[in-house]
Amino acid sequence: MFCPSYDALHQMIVPWLQGLPEGSSFLSAGAGTGADIVTLGKYFPSWSFVAVDISSDMLNACQRRVAEAEMANRVTFFNGRLQEYQSPTSFDAASSVFVAHFIKDREEKLAYFRSIAAKLKTGGLLIFADLFGDKSSPDFARLLNAWLLSYASLGISAEELVQDRAHVERDVAFIPENELVALLNEAGFSTPLRFYQTYLFGGWVATKHV
Ligand SMILES: C[S@@+](CC[C@H](N)C(=O)[O-])C[C@H]1O[C@@H](n2cnc3c(N)ncnc32)[C@H](O)[C@@H]1O
Repeated sequence: MFCPSYDALHQMIVPWLQGLPEGSSFLSAGAGTGADIVTLGKYFPSWSFVAVDISSDMLNACQRRVAEAEMANRVTFFNGRLQEYQSPTSFDAASSVFVAHFIKDREEKLAYFRSIAAKLKTGGLLIFADLFGDKSSPDFARLLNAWLLSYASLGISAEELVQDRAHVERDVAFIPENELVALLNEAGFSTPLRFYQTYLFGGWVATKHV
């Protein structure tokens, strides 16, 4: 409910990956409950997946969802930080959906993106989605208000709205798109192309070039 077009985002990832070969391998960084894995698993039945998440609760939920989708033989799980995951092979594509916006320190964010790049083949694709924006811009406040109004229209209580607004303002490290682009470039990706936006949520596709 927090992201009004969450399911649409996952559907919109599919076309970017359609040119990849049969038997491709896909890394889901901060997999959560596995929304991208089960969506992609349906479209790409020959692919294998690795789900990495620091939360064992999330990974357990992901494991259950993967089993329900009858994909258990195609998915492996790593419980820990993405930066610590050592993959024996390189991936054709990876996703990082709503993970990096919680990393506040620039160097730490860069290290996170670099560790994704290190696990991809050259020419491999990254699908990246995060909350983003320039907090000092007037448009930021307008988008934040519109987002919270849309969220409120789903019947969220006033108390919950206050808490959620505080969570967003406290825990999300918003950065403008040009800074995100610079970070991804520095981490070894081509200039990302934004293919998705809902209020302050953005989604990009980038290619690993080094
Ligand atoms: C907001 S959830 C998003 C989950 C999923 N990608 C989705 O779109 O539903 C962020 C997830 O990233 C995980 N996470 C945060 N930092 C991480 C890191 N450094 N390595 C691996 N997982 C991480 C959290 O435990 C959480 O499950």
